[in-house]
Amino acid sequence: MIIVSNRLPVTVSKREGKLNFQPSAGGLATGLGSFYRETGGVWLGWPGISLESIRGREEEVEEKLAELSCKPVFLSQRQIENFYYGFSNKTLWPLFHYFLQYAVFDQKLWEAYRRVNRLFCEAVLEVADPDSTIWVHDYQLLLLPHLLRERLPRASIGFFLHIPFPSFEIFRVIPWRKELLEGMLGADLVGFHTYDYVRHFISSVRRLLGYDHQLGLITTATRVIRVDAFPMGIDYEKFARSAEKKEVKQEIRRIRRRIGERKVILSVDRLDYTKGIAQRLRAYDQLLEKYPEYKEKVVLILVAVPSRTRVEHYMLLKREVDELIGRINGRHGAFGWTPVWYLYRSLQFPTLAALYNLADVALVTPFRDGMNLIAKEYVASTPADKGVLVLSEMAGAASELGEAIIINPHNLNQMTEAMREALEMEPEEKRTRNNYMKYRLRRYDIHRWAQEFVQKLQEVKELQQEYVARQVTPGLLQKIKEDFLAAQSKIEFLDYDGTLVGFTTRPEAARPDAELLRIIEKLGQIPGNDVVIISGRDKDTLTRWFGELPVYLVAEHGIWVRAPGGDWEMIEPLSTDWKEAIRPIMENFADLTPGAFIEEKDYALVWHYRRADPELSSVRARELKEALYDVTQNLDLLVLEGNKVIEVKPINVNKGRTARYFLEKKDYEFILAVGDDWTDEDLFEAMPEEAYTIKVGFGVSRAKYQVESYREVRKILRYLVEENG
Ligand code: UDP
Ligand code: G6P
Repeated sequence: MIIVSNRLPVTVSKREGKLNFQPSAGGLATGLGSFYRETGGVWLGWPGISLESIRGREEEVEEKLAELSCKPVFLSQRQIENFYYGFSNKTLWPLFHYFLQYAVFDQKLWEAYRRVNRLFCEAVLEVADPDSTIWVHDYQLLLLPHLLRERLPRASIGFFLHIPFPSFEIFRVIPWRKELLEGMLGADLVGFHTYDYVRHFISSVRRLLGYDHQLGLITTATRVIRVDAFPMGIDYEKFARSAEKKEVKQEIRRIRRRIGERKVILSVDRLDYTKGIAQRLRAYDQLLEKYPEYKEKVVLILVAVPSRTRVEHYMLLKREVDELIGRINGRHGAFGWTPVWYLYRSLQFPTLAALYNLADVALVTPFRDGMNLIAKEYVASTPADKGVLVLSEMAGAASELGEAIIINPHNLNQMTEAMREALEMEPEEKRTRNNYMKYRLRRYDIHRWAQEFVQKLQEVKELQQEYVARQVTPGLLQKIKEDFLAAQSKIEFLDYDGTLVGFTTRPEAARPDAELLRIIEKLGQIPGNDVVIISGRDKDTLTRWFGELPVYLVAEHGIWVRAPGGDWEMIEPLSTDWKEAIRPIMENFADLTPGAFIEEKDYALVWHYRRADPELSSVRARELKEALYDVTQNLDLLVLEGNKVIEVKPINVNKGRTARYFLEKKDYEFILAVGDDWTDEDLFEAMPEEAYTIKVGFGVSRAKYQVESYREVRKILRYLVEENG
C-alpha cells in the first residue's frame, strides 16, 4: 500500500545546522500514523521543510525517513508559499470550512496547486506499479487521484477527505470546481467522515458534472466509483491505557502538583480559526463573571499548537487569543491563581495524555471540523466517572458522540452554561455517558476504519471487473454477427430513447436521424428478420417516425403493437378510469417543480423531470412516488421509474409481456434485446437463455452485456447490416 498525503507523520526542522525529526501534529498524521506501518507499505509526503533549507542534505533526510517507511516529496520555498500556504490553506481550507470570507481566489495559486499535484503524481509513479493500491489523503491533493488514474489505469486508488465537504452552494463558488471534482473522481473509492459530506459531494457531482448516483455508486461515462462515509477512529487502546504508562503517570503527578485540587478545563487544538478558540475563551470569561464561585477553583489549560503561521488569518487569530488570555488573566486572576494556563506549542504524547487524564472538562467547540480526534482521544483517555466532554455540533465527531454535552459554538450563553453543567455533573451520570461513547470508540477504532476503507476499495474494484466482463468486445461482436447470419429466423427488440438515440430535454426533439432510419430500414429488409422497436412512446409518435419502415412497433411499454404497415392493436383490452385519480396528483407535483411536466398516453400518465432542477426534482420525484404508491395500491396499477420519468400504467402491461407474445408466435434462432432503463429490465427478464441482451449504460441489470451509449448500439446494428462486415 502506498499512502500519500501532503503532511508526513514526521516533520523535519533545522536548528543551528542540525536536522530534527519530530512527530507531526494534526488529525491526519496522528490518526494514520498509528497503523500505516502495519500495512508494510510506504508513506509519501512533504517533510515540512523547504528544499532550500536542506539543499545538499536531501539524502540524509531520505535515509532517515526511509527508516520510518516514509519517502519525502520535496517542495521549494515558492511551492510551499503558493501551494501549501496558498491554494491549500488560503482557498480550500477556509472555503471547505464555510469561512467563505477568508477564501482567496488567485490563478497563480491554482497553477501552483496543479503543478504540485503533478509533482506528487511523479513521486508516486516512482514507487508504484500498475496494480498498486494507493491511498491519497486530504484537500491538498484533490487532483492527484485523476492524475494517477491517467498513468495507472488499473491501480486501486482510494481517496479520503479529512475535512468537511461543503454544501453545493459553497463549493460552486470555486472557479476551478469542475477540475477539483474530476480530480477526486479519479479514485475508485472516495471516503468522507460523515454522510452529510457524502451527500454534499454527490450533490456537487450531479449538479456540476451531471453524473447520477445509485446507493453511493457514481457512474461516469467510463467507470463506477463508490462514495461512502468512514468516520475516522483513534488508536483507542493507546489512549484508554495511557494512565498505566510510567511517563504519563509522572506527567500527571507533575502537573497535579502545580494545579493542586483545582478542577481542570482543557482545550487543545492547532491554532486555527475553525476551532472556535477565541469564542471558547469568551465563554470562560463569562463563566467566571457570572459564577464567581469558580474563581480560584478552576483553571483552563489552553494548548494551542502553532499552525500555518504564515497565513494572515492565523496571525490575526494568534494576536486575538494572546490578547483575550491577557485580559482574562488580568481581570480575574489573583495571587497564586492564573485562570488560563496557555501553552503555545506542540505537546508530546505523555503530556497530552496526562492532560486528558487530569481534565474534568474538555472543551471541543469548533465552528466547523471534519471530524475532530481530540474529542475522541479525550473520551478514550478520561476515567469513566471523571471527564465531561463539551462538544460542538459542527464537529464531525458529534454524530458519534451524542452523549457529550452538545452545543452550538455560536451560542455563547449555551457554552457558558454547558461548562457549568459539566463542572457540576454527578459521577454516576458521567460514567453512563462516557461508557456509551467509549464502547463505540473501542469498536470503531482506527484499525477498523482503515480495514473497512481498504476492504470497500477491493469490493469496488471487483464490481468494476464485473462491468468490464460484461463489455461487448470485438470478439463478442463477431460472434453476434455470425449467429445473426447463420439464423434463418431472427428478431431484435430495440428500445428507443437512450438506446437508439441520446436524451434531449424535450421528448419530441429526440426524433430519429437519417443514419438511424437507414440502419433500421436495412435491418428490417433482411429476409427472416423481425425488428421490433419497443418503446414507452405513444402510437402517433412512433407511427410518424417509423410507420413507413418494415418494422414492428410497440408503444406505451407494450400496450399497443403494430405489424409493418398494419394497424395498431392491443394485446388485451384495458380501462383508463384510473387516470382521473392519478392526473391531479401529478399535476400538483408538476406545479411545485418548475420544468417538470406531464405526458398523457392512451394507457399511461408520465411525469417528466429531465428539465427540472436536479436536486429539487429528485426530492419531488421521491415524494411523488410515495404519493403514487399510496393511491395505486388497490388499483392494479404500476408506478415505474425510468430515466428522469415516473410513469403510471396498468400493472399487467410491460415490455416483457409483449416480447413474450412475439416469442410465442414463432421460433427464433437469433434473439437480441437492447435497452437502457428499468422498463427494459422486464424485457431482459423475458428473454430465453440463448438471447443476447445488452444494457446501455453502467449499473445493475439483468442483461448479460453492457455498452456505454447509444452510439455503440448503432455500431452493433450497423455491423449487422453491413454486406461484408
Ligand atoms: N496533537 C498533537 N500534539 C499536540 C496537540 C494535538 O499531536 O500538542 C494531535 C492530537 O493528538 C490529535 C491531532 O493532533 O490526534 C489533532 O487532530 P484533530 O482531528 O482534533 O484536529 P486537526 O488538527 O486535524 O484539525
Ligand atoms: C488537518 C488537515 C491535515 C493537516 C493537519 C495539520 O488535520 O486535515 O491535512 O495535515 O490539519 O495541518 P498542516 O497544515 O500542519 O499539515
